[in-house]
Amino acid sequence: MNVPVVSPICGRLALCRPGFERECVQELEQAARAAGLSGYARAREAGGYAEFILHDGADAGALTMATQWNALIFARQALDLIARLDGLDPVDRIGPLLVALSGRGECFGDIRIEHTDSDAGRELSGLARSLTPPLRTALQRAHLLDTAAPRHLHVLLLAGDSLILAAAAPAASAPDAGGIPRLRFPAGAPSRSTLKLEEALLVLLSDRERERWLRAGMTAVDLGAAPGGWTFQLVRRSLRVIAVDNGPMDRALLDSGLVEHRREDGFRFRPARPVDWLVCDMVEQPRRIAALIAAWLGERCCRHALFNLKLPMKKRLDEVRLCLALIRDTVPGIELRARQLYHDREEITVLAVPST
Ligand SMILES: C[S@@+](CC[C@H](N)C(=O)[O-])C[C@H]1O[C@@H](n2cnc3c(N)ncnc32)[C@H](O)[C@@H]1O
Repeated sequence: MNVPVVSPICGRLALCRPGFERECVQELEQAARAAGLSGYARAREAGGYAEFILHDGADAGALTMATQWNALIFARQALDLIARLDGLDPVDRIGPLLVALSGRGECFGDIRIEHTDSDAGRELSGLARSLTPPLRTALQRAHLLDTAAPRHLHVLLLAGDSLILAAAAPAASAPDAGGIPRLRFPAGAPSRSTLKLEEALLVLLSDRERERWLRAGMTAVDLGAAPGGWTFQLVRRSLRVIAVDNGPMDRALLDSGLVEHRREDGFRFRPARPVDWLVCDMVEQPRRIAALIAAWLGERCCRHALFNLKLPMKKRLDEVRLCLALIRDTVPGIELRARQLYHDREEITVLAVPST
């Protein structure tokens, strides 16, 4: 029989795309340092998560504030660490979990059992589903569930015999399990890239912003548009789109009457009149894309911009910071929201909007 080991931890847990743990660690360390908090970050290569462990006496609330999930670029989710449990017996995983939680004086509003996005993590999805009802019942019986409690309990399964306990207020954490919005491929969309823009509009804009900034009759330019996955998202919201690409565009999009296809160089093209949106998915050096976006915003050719930065193999966070700084320095008063979305691979997505 396994002997479970319960290790309480004070710090932050961030979930990320496997392969980007180093960037996640760097971001956590930089944010903690900027907030004057001492501790250290750790991650396992391709594990799909990173942790920042606070030194004794450091302010956990300040770390939470400094590392909000939607302020980090490479984290899909960020949670407060509670404990790590290892050596769990498959016959009774819930007993040690209750031991780890009882005596802390905290009830939870709800529970979510999740796994990382790594190959090993995804194999635990069945276990996550099957553990949820008995864990909920056990927590209820132990008086550890209270719908009025401010934080929800997150159980991150690492393996059949080990897990991390964490918690977060729902309003201060990503709404979907693992920080991954479940999007269905829309019928008629010409490429899978369409989900990148759909996710970006969902994650980077609030409900109110989507209502105000994506209205029928608004105008957009899509640079590197072919075959039209991003243009599809704009057309389905009834925007008029100039699609710039030497490649062929989807016939149905052209027949919609909302799309003008221009076979031109995306780096030279400028619209005759300012547009509401510039979107750009051209595969190019990130600095070249950043300079292009800065020029469009600086020349007031567009009000909002949404674009991908394809990342280099090394020093990816440094390159991202450099690109964002380039835009901020050129366009005063611009707000940049940057994230590696679930549908982003070796890239991040950035939204540029006038700051309010
Ligand atoms: C990743 S694909 C875009 C996919 C598109 N967003 C979609 O959802 O279907 C990149 C596109 O950028 C185009 N592209 C690359 N360099 C370009 C340039 N200088 N001017 C215009 N288009 C360019 C390519 O022809 C290619 O179609």
